[in-house]
Amino acid sequence: MTRAERIDLSASVALVTGAAGGIGAAVCEELHRRGAAVVLVDLEQDRVDAAARRLGAERTLALGADVTDPDAMLTAVAAARDTFGALDIAIANAGISSGAQAFTISGAPDGVFERVIGVNLQGVWNTVRSSLPAVIDSRGHILLTSSTYAYVNGLANAPYAASKAAVESLGRSLRTELAAYRASAGVLYPGWIATPIADVAFGGDEIATELVHRATPSPLRKPIAPQRVARAVADGIERRSPRIQVPRRWIPVAALRGLVNPLFDLRMERDQGIAERVRQLDER
Ligand SMILES: NC(=O)c1ccc[n+]([C@@H]2O[C@H](COP(=O)([O-])OP(=O)(O)OC[C@H]3O[C@@H](n4cnc5c(N)ncnc54)[C@H](O)[C@@H]3O)[C@@H](O)[C@H]2O)c1
Repeated sequence: MTRAERIDLSASVALVTGAAGGIGAAVCEELHRRGAAVVLVDLEQDRVDAAARRLGAERTLALGADVTDPDAMLTAVAAARDTFGALDIAIANAGISSGAQAFTISGAPDGVFERVIGVNLQGVWNTVRSSLPAVIDSRGHILLTSSTYAYVNGLANAPYAASKAAVESLGRSLRTELAAYRASAGVLYPGWIATPIADVAFGGDEIATELVHRATPSPLRKPIAPQRVARAVADGIERRSPRIQVPRRWIPVAALRGLVNPLFDLRMERDQGIAERVRQLDER
């Protein structure tokens, strides 16, 4: 893409899933501040209405929809096009954690894997598929929210980590396919962000908190505000970035993952403190 093909947010319509809270709400606020029309999608109409009200009536549309329902997503995209005449940007951001308590693969409650994959992967797929024709028409951009969990060890968080690795893969394929239409896609890799989804690793679950402390070097562990992610997202979309990594301190880890991952995996495998906590997770 050339500089001339940068995205002008002030002339764009953006649909964001998971828009009622956390990163999604902050992204909507930032895109709206830069002049975009914003379509806010989240599970409950009341919550998404409240998020839209904070932005004002102008250039906003609030839609209650479940990303796991492909028909609901097609309806949301149709409503966006009817209201604003186009859809240039789709941000497949809605996501869930595995729950308030961490568990191993062996101790995972029945159905949790399917639920996490259903929202975090199938939901992203549905969002991408429903918005593709519109985004291709306007040579726009699709952003998929993955996570640093796409490439760090998913110890005690395996369904979530697996879903995020799959989303990364989807985003890379999509970018290459969209290049054929002079449209683009990118992957967002947030580190730890101060939203409810991260509570489990920051005191919400004592064992998970200890595991994150043991497994993650402290500079990488410090949570940042969702507003910082939102600014990076807006900048990244304007540039059609293939990867948005925030905070930026994760960039070397991501770039060197082929070397870093085997070393970290080996260190964790040999860490008796980690082994002890894994057994504690399975005993409770
Ligand atoms: N917070 C972090 O540390 C962190 C780190 C990396 C990636 N992420 C990812 O960022 C994204 C946003 O997470 P967040 O931290 O803002 O969490 P959050 O819980 O604050 O927000 C997620 C939003 O998604 C919505 N949602 C959940 N299921 C949905 C569904 N089926 N249909 C529509 N909306 C649904 C929720 O109602 C909520 O408003 C997620 O994909 C998450 O996995 C978060």
